[in-house]
Order: sequence, then C-alpha cells, then structure tokens
Amino acid sequence: MKLYIETLGCAMNVRDSEHIISELQEKEGYTLTSDISQADLILINTCSVREKPEQKLFSEVGQFAKRKKQGAKIGVCGCTASALGHEIIKRSPHVDFVLGARNISKITSIIHTPKAVEVDISHDDSMYVFSNSKPSSYRALLNISIGCDKKCAYCIVPFTRGKEISIPFDLINKEARRLVANGTKEILLLGQNVNNYGIRFSVPHANINFTMLLQELSKIDGLERIRFTSPHPLHMNDEFLDEFASNPKICKSIHIPLQSGSDRILKQMKRGYTQEWYLNRISYLKNKVPNVGISTDIIVGFPNESDDDFEETMKVLESVRFDTLYSFIYSPRPNTLSYSWGDNGSVPSNVSKDRLARLQNRHREILQENSQRELGKTHYVLIDSNKSSIKETFSEGRSDTNRLVRIQDEFIDMGNIAEVMITDVRGSTLYAKTRIK
Ligand code: 5AD
Ligand code: SF4
Repeated sequence: MKLYIETLGCAMNVRDSEHIISELQEKEGYTLTSDISQADLILINTCSVREKPEQKLFSEVGQFAKRKKQGAKIGVCGCTASALGHEIIKRSPHVDFVLGARNISKITSIIHTPKAVEVDISHDDSMYVFSNSKPSSYRALLNISIGCDKKCAYCIVPFTRGKEISIPFDLINKEARRLVANGTKEILLLGQNVNNYGIRFSVPHANINFTMLLQELSKIDGLERIRFTSPHPLHMNDEFLDEFASNPKICKSIHIPLQSGSDRILKQMKRGYTQEWYLNRISYLKNKVPNVGISTDIIVGFPNESDDDFEETMKVLESVRFDTLYSFIYSPRPNTLSYSWGDNGSVPSNVSKDRLARLQNRHREILQENSQRELGKTHYVLIDSNKSSIKETFSEGRSDTNRLVRIQDEFIDMGNIAEVMITDVRGSTLYAKTRIK
C-alpha cells in the first residue's frame, strides 16, 4: 500500500504529518510515494491560519481525484479539517474522510471508516505515544504541548487545535532520548506557546515550567543543540531569557512574534503586551546575547489599523532589526473575535498591500546591512547537506543563529558541527571557511 501526503503550513503540521506517516508505516504497512497515480491513500494536511490555503484545498482535491488510481482514498487532515469539518465532505464527494488537528492519533482507524469526520477539538492527544518516526536528518521536531489558550482576536488556531495541554515531561524526555540514540543532534521543541509549558496537564504532574524543561533536556548526552518555537513575548520573563542566554546547548536564535508595533492595535488584537514591553524584552535579550538572531511575525491591515499605527510597527522594525520577517496581510477567519466585527474598520486591500510592501522592502535593506556585519564573525554550523564532485565541493547547514551558511570547497561529514568564519555574503546566504578542521 502506498501513501502520498502533502503538507502545508507550520512546523506543527509538518510534525503531525511525520506522526501520520509513522503510524501508517508501522501499523498499516504503508510506504511513501511521490507519485499520486501510484498511491492507495492520498492525504492533504493543510493549514487554515489564512484564507488562501483553505480555498486551494477544494481545487486540489478535484485535481487529485482526476489523477488517482481507481479505489484510492482521499483524506483531508489538519487545521482546515478541524475548521470546516462536515462541510468538506458535503462540498467535495471525492473526500473519503476528514481528520482534524489534535485527532491525528485516530489515523489508523479513520482510514477504514468511510466518510468519517473526526474533528473534536477537545480530544486529548497529549498522552498518545506515536509510533517510532525515523528522523530524516540530524534535526528533529518534538511536540511539548498541543493547542493554545490565548485567543488572539485574529487567530483561528484555538478553534482548530483546542485548549492548551502540555505533554508530560517523561514522554518528552523519553522521545528526546530515543531521537538522540538514533542520531539526532538538534531538537526543535514545538508548541503554540512554548514558554507557557507546564500550566495544564491531563494527568497529575510535578511542577515544571519551560525554563526547567530546557534545563532537563540539555542534560541529555549527545543532544548538541536545542531550538524551540514559538515563545510568546508576554511570557518572556528574566528567568527564561537568562536560561536562553547562558545554556550553551540552546541555539542563539529566537522567534518573537510582534504582530503589531502599535499599542492600540495590540490591545484590539488581545496580545497582552505593549510596544514598550516588547522592546524591553528585546533589549534585555540583546544585552545578554549581542549576536542573537531574532525572527518575527507581523500582520498588516488589521481592522482599524491607521497610518500612525503602521508607523509604530515600522518603528519597531527599525529598532529591533529582525533577521527574519514573516509578514502577512490580515485575513478574517471564521469564529475569531475580529471576524465578528464584519466590515467595521476594515482596511482597504490596496492600503494593506502598500504597507506590506514597505515593511518587506525595509526589512530586505536591514537584512543586507545585518549580513554585512556578519563578515569575520565566528559561527557554529550543523552540517546537513554536502557535495563533492569534479564540478564543485561544499558543505552547508544552519548557524546557531539560524542563518544558512555555505562552506565552499570543503567537504565536512553530515551531522558535524563546524566552527567557521564568515568570509562573504550573497543574498541571504553566508559563506564561510572552517576555523578548526
Ligand atoms: N490573518 C493574517 N495573519 C495571521 N496570522 C494568524 N492569524 C492570521 C490572520 N487571521 C499570522 C500571525 C501568526 C502567524 C503564524 O500567522 O502572524 O503569528
Ligand atoms: Fe494564535 Fe495567538 Fe495562540 Fe499564536 S498565541 S496560536 S497567534 S491565538
């Protein structure tokens, strides 16, 4: 039996797909294929944070239905499955089942239940131990919590992934040790709100918070690097930032979603912090880790965002000088608070587009300036790609600050962490030579 799976969206969806694949491989004997016409089971694991991928779903199902072999099943999984539920089967007769995010553990039974719809967002997957997934590289993803309690005004996630539940420490620890025993060097801890870890478990559990979790996991021999995504700016207390700064296993890159720089808009978004708080956390961090790589998410065109509000966002961009920017035009999502406002305060699409372009252009300039400052600096690069041929030789990987670094004319074994000096910058890629071989 062959499985074709398409994954869209965030790291959480990528991890859900890994779980689906390992369950189907170990318990149902499936192997993966990249050829739809060969597949017995076609899965689309998709995202609903913005409207576009959701619209794409139905045209995609139609195309897959034309190309699939007779008798092959089509299943829709993930956040869009949770958001639309029964409507998917109603709108598209080609779909055999719908499996929402947070119901992934039911994959092996749902494939045998025609027209099943499993989208219960209060289902508790936090204790489920998935089959052994084989990490495909030296880097692996590891969930530490499911769901989100925040209810930011624009965000559909609490309605697709339900309330936040932390995964018990013992399960996380066991999985981390298993990954490391199988060759993993770097683990990316995943949660909608990682630094809220430990607030709620579904079993009695010893007191633990995210800082303690980081301390415990960094005791694992052979685990060389720890990353995590995403923390919430509101929960970035000194204790957590001190641990981030001083723990040598924690990579010095961090995603700190800003969303807006305007206090007025932040309040309407229900983000729980102000520009002053955000900038205070950034300067505390930069003081302790001057070379830290910071990435962020920004939404433009949120209802009632005025030119002055947008200037506040530009001000934060200028002050923080992010290394990576994920920026989006606001997209109204069903069930959310801002959706209930209808057209009240909605920003014309040409205004949103102009704001997005300004933001992205200025970010590109900043990135170039940031990159020039990298020349001569030392970085530690986990090699996860290399090539040696008559034409060219190189090794490549991510720095601890999460920049892509290419070491030209040198062949370094995969999985090694190379100490390098940056010698050149082209586009967003840094070029380097090893310091110690
Ligand atoms: N419209 C636009 N962007 C959104 N995001 C979340 N919801 C919306 C929405 N309704 C963005 C946020 C979040 C990222 C994952 O997606 O910036 O951090
Ligand atoms: Fe959505 Fe806010 Fe939760 Fe992030 S913290 S998943 S933006 S509700």
